[in-house]
Amino acid sequence: MFWVDEQNSGSRTITSSNNDDTQEILAYFTRSYCKNKRGTEMEEKILVTGGAGYIGSHTVVQLLEAGLSVVVFDNLSNSSRAVIDRISKLTGSKSLDFIEGDIRDRTAVRHALRDQKISAVVHFAGLKAVGESETEPLKYYDNNVSGSVVLLEEMMKTDINTIVFSSSATVYGNPEYSQYHEDTPPAPANVYGRTKLIVEDILRDLKKSQPSWRIALLRYFNPVGAHDSGLIGENPKGIPNNLMPFIAQVAVGVRQKLSVYGNDYPTPDGTGLRDYIHVEDLAAGHLATLQYLKIKPTLLTLNLGTGQSYSVLDIIKAFEKASGKAIPYEVVGRREGDLAEYYADPSLAEKILGWKAQLGIDRMCADTWRWKKNNPAGYSNIK
Ligand code: NAD
Ligand code: UD1
Repeated sequence: MFWVDEQNSGSRTITSSNNDDTQEILAYFTRSYCKNKRGTEMEEKILVTGGAGYIGSHTVVQLLEAGLSVVVFDNLSNSSRAVIDRISKLTGSKSLDFIEGDIRDRTAVRHALRDQKISAVVHFAGLKAVGESETEPLKYYDNNVSGSVVLLEEMMKTDINTIVFSSSATVYGNPEYSQYHEDTPPAPANVYGRTKLIVEDILRDLKKSQPSWRIALLRYFNPVGAHDSGLIGENPKGIPNNLMPFIAQVAVGVRQKLSVYGNDYPTPDGTGLRDYIHVEDLAAGHLATLQYLKIKPTLLTLNLGTGQSYSVLDIIKAFEKASGKAIPYEVVGRREGDLAEYYADPSLAEKILGWKAQLGIDRMCADTWRWKKNNPAGYSNIK
């Protein structure tokens, strides 16, 4: 993992692993990005589709802090304009632009890429609700797959050939072993997961036909947490599907109690085990990936996880400790499609990028709680 320390000198001190590629990247990073902070011309402008969303917004903050310029392109279907104001406030950066647009809108995408002189794309825009993807599959294929094709076609026309794509551990489906390696054969068990795998396949085919492309397929495990300022965080609409945002709503009093989906799994306490990763670590993984792709015209497929798994009861306990609030819960039946356990083998990302998740479960809960306590209604109460 790269750690950038600007506090003492205005320049950056970077520590990392002993991997040769990583050293090369670090040397490049030190040479190029240090210049930017000293006030010379910005040389990189990144288009971040879905940059107003949960993971996108945290990544945008880190890109800006690294001295890059950012254009957020988002249709706000699952986010708010207020996020952009919060990012500006947080970073004080003048290098952030926002375009309200849909990735399926070819003209809007073309203008964004061409007029803004973009050098690379980080592609978060997508729909992600597993249940909804089963009941409205065409909506998911259209948004996630067709939208990505439009984006790639327009990138091709504008000679932009660097893309980091948000994939998911969901692509693995239900393999024989709980620890997922990048070479575990993918077999997604739901429509959402299939849209992710299809876009991965499209990108692999694109790379075969156009070797100059620089592509990263990042398979996220379970992103949780929030920026430690408490200014940005996860803001699900309606009843949260995922565990951490649901617990946060119980802690803040929006929901009465959590339903624990099954305590009869073959796990130590009977509840499901997952690899939760702090969204700040995830964001740092994107920065490290962009830096790597700048040096190597390659296609990377990487797990972004911690390699450690926690049970539902572990998370409840950790959240109670972080918040000082009791989390009432009731054990109910298993949720359809849930697995007993899965977690990442994160070693490839460390070997290639020198990136490793740093933040543990206590920080994940403390930061989620700070965000939720300060913003019980998310962004919806912000003018
Ligand atoms: P999010 O919903 O908070 O962010 C997605 C953003 O994309 C939203 O701001 C939304 O308005 C925007 N968007 C959606 N469709 C769009 C379109 N057609 N055009 C323009 N903008 C559009 O979700 P997130 O949790 O930040 O996830 C980001 C990406 O990571 C998604 O692609 C998701 O599938 C993937 N992912 C998320 C998780 C997770 O648990 N959060 C896990 C694995 C992968
Ligand atoms: C879910 C999605 C997965 C997606 C991931 C994103 C399903 C079937 N899978 O996975 O595709 O990539 O989110 O982070 O929807 N739990 C409860 N009560 C709740 C919510 C969850 O007990 O109210 C349990 C679940 O049974 C599971 C654990 O908490 O054991 C984590 O659940 P969740 O946060 O939804 O993540 P995943 O199940 O990993």
